[in-house]
Amino acid sequence: MTNLPEGFLWGAATAGHQVEGNNTDSDIWALENTEGSILPERSGDACDSYHRWREDLDIVRDLGLNSYRFGIEWARIEPEPGRFSLAELAHYRRIVEGCLERGLTPVVTLHHFTSPAWFRAAGGWTGPDGVGLFRRYVRQARAVLDGVPWVCTVNEPNMLAMMANMFRQGERREAVAGAMPPPDQETAEALVAAHHAASEELSDLPGTATGWTVANQNFQAVDGADALAEEWAYTREDQFLDAAKDDAFVGVQAYTRVVVGPEGPREPEPGVRRTITGWEFHPQALEGAVRHTAERTGGVPVLVTENGIATSSDEERIEYTTGALAGLGRAMADGVDVRGYLHWSLLDNYEWGSWAPTFGLVGVDRKTFARTVKPSGRWYGELARGGELPS
Ligand code: BGC
Repeated sequence: MTNLPEGFLWGAATAGHQVEGNNTDSDIWALENTEGSILPERSGDACDSYHRWREDLDIVRDLGLNSYRFGIEWARIEPEPGRFSLAELAHYRRIVEGCLERGLTPVVTLHHFTSPAWFRAAGGWTGPDGVGLFRRYVRQARAVLDGVPWVCTVNEPNMLAMMANMFRQGERREAVAGAMPPPDQETAEALVAAHHAASEELSDLPGTATGWTVANQNFQAVDGADALAEEWAYTREDQFLDAAKDDAFVGVQAYTRVVVGPEGPREPEPGVRRTITGWEFHPQALEGAVRHTAERTGGVPVLVTENGIATSSDEERIEYTTGALAGLGRAMADGVDVRGYLHWSLLDNYEWGSWAPTFGLVGVDRKTFARTVKPSGRWYGELARGGELPS
């Protein structure tokens, strides 16, 4: 049995654009609503969490969890360059307070894939003063963050940098690292600078730990492809972990693995079990990810900010999560400093161009927005209440 540290977070995660609905001033909304878009399905009303966040928080609390990760939307807070909406800042502040009132530790993400449409039009991260514009937004976002112990600056900068390349090519590929183009290096470097700028802006907030969340892809070499796998890992992951070396924590997000042979990343063997997203069913991903992250960053405390599975079988969700948590326990027993586990996702939500992959502990009726807790949600809540990781 693994002794969990005092205050270990057992939570669930969401992201603004994926659950709120009508994030109309954002770049991804614009992309979704373009004729012939590379994102075939639209987010639309999403899960209507913009209005139903209280219900979402009640569910998290009633399940027996003690933490909720959610994102605030830059496009709502700054719909036009330099014009900040006090009402939207107050909206997000109410969610933070809603968490605190329910005894839930808020984990707040400042940027989760979406930017204001005007930011992208102005050149985005690599445009003139892209980093400065993000810094200006973060300065305003401080109004939301009083008493928030965990702040994630940028979600999956490595995916963002890879997507920058992918969008430039005008095609949508499944977000399996192995199937994606290399990151746009200029974007990668701008994101590192943006992360550091944001951390600096927040450094005097008492009791707030700031970090970023990196998609861990578990690159595994086979048939002597060690050097190639290392190169893949460096460009697509490790350079982003290196940028977290001085942070108060690093967010680990892991779902599957990428096997790299001498010819490059390999598709899973025929017959290998896959999830709705096409990824290999590989619950050991989390253990590999936390071990790698701790080693690469030189022991920066880890918060698992995402881990889960897109499946229509709730038993399979329980099986996957049990395996992932057992692996987490093994890593912790070996001394990896892990502060919490936030399951992806609380809700079946908008999966960037598709509604098909269901990652939720809770189902959502697409017409009425009614939430239904799945057996996996109840199972996970029981586990959290028990306070022990499965072995
Ligand atoms: C992202 C989430 C996404 C999840 C599953 C992560 O890459 O942060 O927004 O829904 O993986 O694909």
